[in-house]
Amino acid sequence: MLEELKNIKTSVESRLNEVKTLEDLNELKVKALGRKGDITLILKRLKDIPPEQRVEVGKFANEVKASLERMIEEKARELKKLELDLRLMAETIDVTLPGLPLIKGRKHPLTQVIDEIRDIFTSMGFAVAEGPEIESDYYNFEALNIPKEHPARDMQDSFYITEEILLRTHTSPVQVRTMEKMAPQIPVKIIVPGRVYRRDDDATHSPMFHQIEGLVIDERITFAHLKGTLMLFAQKVFGEDVKVRYRPSFFPFTEPSAEMDISCVMCKGEGCRVCSYTGWLEILGAGMVNPRVLEYGGYDPEKVSGFAFGMGVERIAMLKYGINDLRLFFENDKRFLTQF
Ligand code: PHE
Repeated sequence: MLEELKNIKTSVESRLNEVKTLEDLNELKVKALGRKGDITLILKRLKDIPPEQRVEVGKFANEVKASLERMIEEKARELKKLELDLRLMAETIDVTLPGLPLIKGRKHPLTQVIDEIRDIFTSMGFAVAEGPEIESDYYNFEALNIPKEHPARDMQDSFYITEEILLRTHTSPVQVRTMEKMAPQIPVKIIVPGRVYRRDDDATHSPMFHQIEGLVIDERITFAHLKGTLMLFAQKVFGEDVKVRYRPSFFPFTEPSAEMDISCVMCKGEGCRVCSYTGWLEILGAGMVNPRVLEYGGYDPEKVSGFAFGMGVERIAMLKYGINDLRLFFENDKRFLTQF
């Protein structure tokens, strides 16, 4: 039995050198020291040998057992350390590798156009005003001299929340809201960028779009002020050599009213598909503030006068960038948006 024990010891020792993983080590441990392991089996047979030998063999068997346990434990520690080292090596970060680029966002083209137009007008001394997108019938129509049943309402069919509350169809209601706040102070010089809503939906009309309104009220304001202001605006947005013309028009809240055209940005007035071969593009509506609207706003039309204008931001952006479908602005396609 001593012989057997020695053999077990040497065989375990030599196999310990070959073990590469904790799993294999555990297998070896079970085979030598487990409940049905080699050493255990020998210890069980001790009772069958003569008592004189039993002490010596038993002592030796326990020594072998203890020493194997120590060696296996030692090996386990070694393997664990090795495994950790390997893992750390695999997880090492190479700080000299180039970094990943962080994609930089940008402003939406419509926001860029609004910012540009705002800068043009604030440099002329205009302040920026805002108003609610959910508006009352009173401010959206009534106070702008568009009574119920007036045919001008047809062109601005809206989304009604109740009979009296709707999504605003233009930024003009902010004219009256601002006058109410300011009256009788002068001058009033504001622009109003904002979202508006109409029941339209095609390649050039979206149910939600943006407008920029303008309003100037002071003593002795004339149509010449309107023309001078809008000429400067057109030159800044479309270039120094742009030409401008006015056509008579109708808005219940301005009198007289006009529509302003600019010479076609595509063909420079030669005539092309974009301008329907007229050489001109309509870009905004404008006029002298109707005296009734001044009164609604709390001003005395005998003492002050004013002009107002309203433009569609999408239309200006389309002309500026040569975009032929309005819906592109609202599809959130990065291939489109990153071009601006
Ligand atoms: N609110 C008008 C529209 O949306 C535009 C406009 C504004 C016209 C101010 C004249 C004066 O069509």
